[in-house]
Amino acid sequence: MNYLLRSSTLEESDLPLLAVGVTKHEKQLPPALAALDARAGGVLARACAGDFTGGRDETSLLYLPGAEPRRVLLVGVGKLEELPLIGGLARPVAVRNAIRRAAAIAARRARALGTGAVAFAMPAELRSGVGAQDFAQAAVEGLAQGAWQFDELKSPSGERKPPVTDLTVVVEPAEESAARRGFAVGRAVAEGQALARRLQALPPNQCTPALLADTARQLGAAHGFAVTVLEREQMQQEGMGALLAVAQGSVTEPRFIIIEYRGAGAAPPVALVGKGITFDTGGISIKPAAQMEEMKYDMSGAAAVLGAFEALGRLKPKINVVGLIPSTDNMPSGSAVRPSDVVTSHSGKQIEIVNTDAEGRLILADALSYARRFKPAAVLDAATLTGAVIIALGHAASAVMGTDEALIEEVRRAGDRAGERVWPLPMYDEFRELNKSDIADVKNSGGRPAGTITAGWFLREFAEGYPWVHIDVAGTAYSDVDAPPLPKGPAGVPTRLFVEFLLGRAG
Ligand code: BES
Ligand code: MN
Ligand code: ZN
Repeated sequence: MNYLLRSSTLEESDLPLLAVGVTKHEKQLPPALAALDARAGGVLARACAGDFTGGRDETSLLYLPGAEPRRVLLVGVGKLEELPLIGGLARPVAVRNAIRRAAAIAARRARALGTGAVAFAMPAELRSGVGAQDFAQAAVEGLAQGAWQFDELKSPSGERKPPVTDLTVVVEPAEESAARRGFAVGRAVAEGQALARRLQALPPNQCTPALLADTARQLGAAHGFAVTVLEREQMQQEGMGALLAVAQGSVTEPRFIIIEYRGAGAAPPVALVGKGITFDTGGISIKPAAQMEEMKYDMSGAAAVLGAFEALGRLKPKINVVGLIPSTDNMPSGSAVRPSDVVTSHSGKQIEIVNTDAEGRLILADALSYARRFKPAAVLDAATLTGAVIIALGHAASAVMGTDEALIEEVRRAGDRAGERVWPLPMYDEFRELNKSDIADVKNSGGRPAGTITAGWFLREFAEGYPWVHIDVAGTAYSDVDAPPLPKGPAGVPTRLFVEFLLGRAG
């Protein structure tokens, strides 16, 4: 992908497709677009006086007379004074998110058109106070999000439209230096998220724990991270009995991946932990066949951790970060763990495995316990952990829980700013009771009621000695429907949240 920041007035543009974010208006051209309209022979004014109202996701594709820009795509961002501010969302943040969304819509349209390139602009007068830096970041993130596609595994075909390979953000010359900073951050975030989405999209016969480990090593070589990879034998030495219990049913070799970025000397690191189940059949507690193929996305947490490290490598912020990825697939077999087996976890706690499909919390338990050795300032884990979170929040937000209210709030703010919403669920003591085992310290399923929170409570038994937050991304990491602005498939959530959180901490 080629990323370009260009400073010029809109009417000077010489691009095959210039998308312009436009706010909701009453049947008239916003004055900020007058010069471009003059260049366009009045066709923008006619569109704005006609069908195009600037409502969210609305688009109007205009072909201009004469030379470039050949096409102008008006993209509605809606009425910025009326964006819903749920959960204390700040208006400028909501506006940035609307800009990111419009840019993504524009890039998706470019894909459909086959233009190969797309530029996005929005006059400062229409941005309701969002400055050039934030605009450029949101715009490039949105463009990359919309342009992303995965066709590595399709044979070449003359019938397919060419991919979008050139993403341009256009700002006024006076905005250039401020825009450059936001653009660099947005580009790094976008490249991280694209890596996460590619890993998610890869099928589980290719995206194995070994491939995730190789990806970490490649990131290490490219950016100077220290990478350590534990194999089955070393996991045994470490006493990772919960992770090994999940892995014991599979011929695929598990990996425990440790990736370390140092940007702040000896300061305590933030640890990012990602669930890396490369395929979840459920094991002996096997899942129904319908939609089981979606369980290739059960490594989405791991993908987001690796995506965040890609962004860290490009931005080199002043912070220390450790990534921890427990990875295996979850298979039924003659050697698989049985419902009622009891295993000794890395922490020493005894776990009764009553449901082999509650495997994510098992592998994360050992990773959270392992995290203690880094004396982390905070630990964030991301996991496609429960189907129940989709019942609670649908696909509109990830659930967040933790041991530290301030940290939960910090993660919420990072999610808002990144356009990857999270919403808190209450860790009432009552829910802890549901995980009590008759014969061991804890059991790995508390049943159906409050299934997302009992999963959170299970993790909490192992997240000792540091502030901790858990993000359940089962409803947000991928989409099973095609909807604006995201296509069906992997979303790369919560890569942007992770990066936003880390940059916020780095100051
Ligand atoms: N990977 C699944 C959760 C999931 C469900 C992710 C739907 C994405 C979409 C997880 O390992 C799982 O199977 N959870 C069980 C837990 C239950 C057995 C306590 C679930 O949610 O049903
Ligand atoms: Mn499962
Ligand atoms: Zn799972």
